[in-house]
Amino acid sequence: MNRPYIICHMVTSLDGKVTGDFLGKTECAAACETYYEINRNLKSNGFICGRVTMEGSFTGGYYPDLSEYEPVRHDMDLKMDFILDDMTGFYAVAFDPKGKLGWKSNKIVDPDGDPGYDGAQIIEVLTEQADERYLGYLESMEIPYIFAGETEIDVELALFKLKNIIGCDTLLLEGGSIVNGYFQRADVIDELSLIVAPIVADKNDKPLFTESTLSTFEAINAKIENGVTVLNYLKK
Ligand SMILES: NC(=O)c1ccc[n+]([C@@H]2O[C@H](COP(=O)([O-])OP(=O)(O)OC[C@H]3O[C@@H](n4cnc5c(N)ncnc54)[C@H](OP(=O)(O)O)[C@@H]3O)[C@@H](O)[C@H]2O)c1
Repeated sequence: MNRPYIICHMVTSLDGKVTGDFLGKTECAAACETYYEINRNLKSNGFICGRVTMEGSFTGGYYPDLSEYEPVRHDMDLKMDFILDDMTGFYAVAFDPKGKLGWKSNKIVDPDGDPGYDGAQIIEVLTEQADERYLGYLESMEIPYIFAGETEIDVELALFKLKNIIGCDTLLLEGGSIVNGYFQRADVIDELSLIVAPIVADKNDKPLFTESTLSTFEAINAKIENGVTVLNYLKK
């Protein structure tokens, strides 16, 4: 396979939503605990999240003053990826088309030291829309970046590079709804790992896949653990 094996690992509500207040409710706590436990045990080269999730979970909205950084100029037809010599093998891959995420370190610092996240080397997946000074900022922070697309991230190209340049064999796709939808439409989700919390979400919350298309999976495992349902499916 010319791309990493993709396992989409998510907590969902009974009605298949993945964003919103239900995630913070006491009734969802066991589902979140089970989610993190499974995350620690899934063997992978790291996890992929959309820009909104990365901001909510890790960067907290910080953004650098780009006027302090030299622009990195690339020929418009030849956007160059920036890779480090010593890549760790465990990555936090941010789908950040315009370069909106401000990192204070080139590795994830998880407040709980969770080995499922802590120490993961950040990789920015960008489009040609990213500001050239943002590239200067990333290089000064020693944060690797790859280009995939002009305005939207071309999921297949990004995955090709993650496999063939970075060396990722398996990656976890961990939300939210929008990035999951891009992957579902590109038909690159090989496995689903769903933790279903016994709670119904609000009507405004978003589904597992935004703007999904018709596709089928095969159920391979179902169990009840800590009062939550754990479901596993393989791509048909
Ligand atoms: N239930 C769970 O297990 C779980 C797990 C993770 C997150 N979440 C929840 O999910 C929520 C966020 O989800 P979300 O759906 O709003 O956002 P998201 O998927 O986290 O991020 C969406 C953003 O990522 C960028 N993006 C991703 N793929 C792209 C592509 N192929 N092409 C172009 N841009 C792409 C865009 O950034 P720009 O906007 O910069 O263009 C897009 O708006 C959080 O509040 C979090 O609580 C839940």
